[in-house]
Amino acid sequence: VIVAQEREREVIGRELHDNVNQVLTTIKLYLEMAMNNPADREKLIPKSIHHLVESINEIRNLSRDLSAPTLGTRSLIDSLTALLEMVRSSSGLYILFQHQLYYRPTPKDQKLAIYRIVQEQLNNVIKHANATEVLVCIAQTEDNTQVIIKDNGHGFDPSESRTGIGLNNIISRAKVFDGEVKIESGPGKGCSVTIDFPAVLEKEDLS
Ligand SMILES: Nc1ncnc2c1ncn2[C@@H]1O[C@H](COP(=O)(O)OP(=O)(O)OP(=O)(O)O)[C@@H](O)[C@H]1O
Ligand SMILES: [Mg+2]
Repeated sequence: VIVAQEREREVIGRELHDNVNQVLTTIKLYLEMAMNNPADREKLIPKSIHHLVESINEIRNLSRDLSAPTLGTRSLIDSLTALLEMVRSSSGLYILFQHQLYYRPTPKDQKLAIYRIVQEQLNNVIKHANATEVLVCIAQTEDNTQVIIKDNGHGFDPSESRTGIGLNNIISRAKVFDGEVKIESGPGKGCSVTIDFPAVLEKEDLS
């Protein structure tokens, strides 16, 4: 859990550094130019405002990712539905959500882990896959809960070493609940991430 938390901090740090910080630096340059060249102000100030709105949105997305606000009182299916709707509207991806075979309540911590795993892999699809469609599936049998995130993008070679945090984060989040992660992909073949969790038997803290 601690490793997962550290990795998450790294992601936030990098997001702030690569996105927000970069946009703010650009704004600073524009404003300095505007100060020195009054003739260019009309062009530079609207540009600066545009970039400010961009960084406001970045921060909003970041804090929304951090707080997963719908998770507290809602079921996992409702939380995922809200997440997928958000991703759908901001990315234009066609997302199919299958959950007919999901009926057992899930412990709160595991619920959050599944939510984060889906969120992380959707980020990967948006960032790397150039996909048009994603299938998110959550299903249960007597002794297992299975989560699948599958896209029709250009895929990658999973055997190649990777420097990213995301997939490793998915694996360590799954491990906390004895979940097993299978990554199936190949150039031109899309990507499918499957996580199998053994069923949780204790009745405590279910929601
Ligand atoms: N759905 C996908 N389609 C194509 N390539 C993918 C997909 N998911 C992951 N990858 C590839 O696997 C690599 C590792 O993913 P991972 O999430 O671990 O790191 P990252 O996305 O590069 O960085 P981070 O998640 O730390 O921001 C990616 O760089 C990308 O090349
Ligand atoms: Mg990633």
